[in-house]
Amino acid sequence: MISDIIKEGINGVPSIPGDKSISHRSIIIPSISNGICEVNNILKSDDVLHTLNAFKAMGVNIEDHKKKIIIRGRGLNSLKESNNAIYLGNSGTSARLLTGLLSSQKFKSVLTGDNSLSSRPMKRITDPLSEMNAKIYSTNGSLPITIESSKLKPAKINLTIPSAQIKSGLLLAALNIEGETHIIENKTTRDHTEIMLESFGANIEIQKLENRKIIKVFGQKELVPNNIDIPNDLSSSAFFIVSALINNNSNITLKNINNNPTRNGIILALKKMGAKIKLFNNRTNNDESICDIEVVSSNLNGCELGPEFADLMIDEYPILAVAASFADSPSVFRGLKELRVKESDRLNLILKNLQNCGVNCKSKNDDLFIYPSKNYQIKNNLIKTDFDHRIAMAFCVMGTKIGPLNIQDETSINTSFPTFKNELNNLGGKIS
Ligand code: S3P
Repeated sequence: MISDIIKEGINGVPSIPGDKSISHRSIIIPSISNGICEVNNILKSDDVLHTLNAFKAMGVNIEDHKKKIIIRGRGLNSLKESNNAIYLGNSGTSARLLTGLLSSQKFKSVLTGDNSLSSRPMKRITDPLSEMNAKIYSTNGSLPITIESSKLKPAKINLTIPSAQIKSGLLLAALNIEGETHIIENKTTRDHTEIMLESFGANIEIQKLENRKIIKVFGQKELVPNNIDIPNDLSSSAFFIVSALINNNSNITLKNINNNPTRNGIILALKKMGAKIKLFNNRTNNDESICDIEVVSSNLNGCELGPEFADLMIDEYPILAVAASFADSPSVFRGLKELRVKESDRLNLILKNLQNCGVNCKSKNDDLFIYPSKNYQIKNNLIKTDFDHRIAMAFCVMGTKIGPLNIQDETSINTSFPTFKNELNNLGGKIS
């Protein structure tokens, strides 16, 4: 796929798909509720379809319409053993959340994934689950894993890695444990699971002290069904926001975007860089914050972001690094260790690909330094992605400014945003 220069800017109202994190949870939680749930605006991307198919394989009746699904929940304890291993493709969220959920079911499960997912760490979820008496066997700490049926016991778990996937996997396990489980989080991570569980009547109690949060789960209470309208995805929006910021004569509006404060670091970071971004029509739906966003071309300045930003925007560093390459001063983004264990080693690919585009940048102790310049001489226009959707989309946006760039393995974009190419082209991008 080749992403090329835009001469007239990025303009219009792109159609952004439903939020990926909330879409996964909108299949998992209704499936273990006690009744019928209608879920609107679900993202039908490869990752989410893997979660959907997993629950169909475990006996959940899911009626599939275009952007809507209707789920007939089976209750906390009534999923069925899948006839085959459950294949989760590239989806880390499916893998971590299902490992937690299935460790407290009464049957054996086997989870598998693609090459990228099979090289990602699973001990971060299986170790704390073992403290709850889960019986999980992995291949050197990664997928494939086998989850044996086991009676879990309540525990007090202190999360050492800031990860919503780990937290959510543990919460899903705790729902089915008799007694009181505590999950203690020391840094903020996205809280979609807690929000949705509360709206499904789970017996959970949350205590907050600055970034520290104790979630108490009183297990074995059946969940009551609820309908869900999924807001559009801020992480997917970020590619359009940065396209508009860095290309002259741009003006875009993004509608119905999730603006959850545990997730909106990219907006705060870009505003710190002088971006002209206006959030309006602020509202709430299903207890999630939502807004519309207007973005116009902007002269960006560089900035320094501390590690606390990584907790609020870990998925957005590839596209933020592209934005920083067009600022009028250097940037440093600190504390990016977790970027190394995403769908690819993202820190490494950001550096390598920016350097191929002619950008002066380096990393030191998991901090990323970018020294922008006015003109870039592309050294190698082949962008290596290691099948990572966010690297592919970030460098499509880079191509809109300095192109043409040749993006390897572009089908990875279907992981989260199957309509990305058409949407960007509709707004003035030139991706062939
Ligand atoms: C996600 C959590 C994040 C994020 C991922 C989606 C989720 O991972 O990177 O894309 O839906 O819970 P971690 O929580 O492991 O950082």
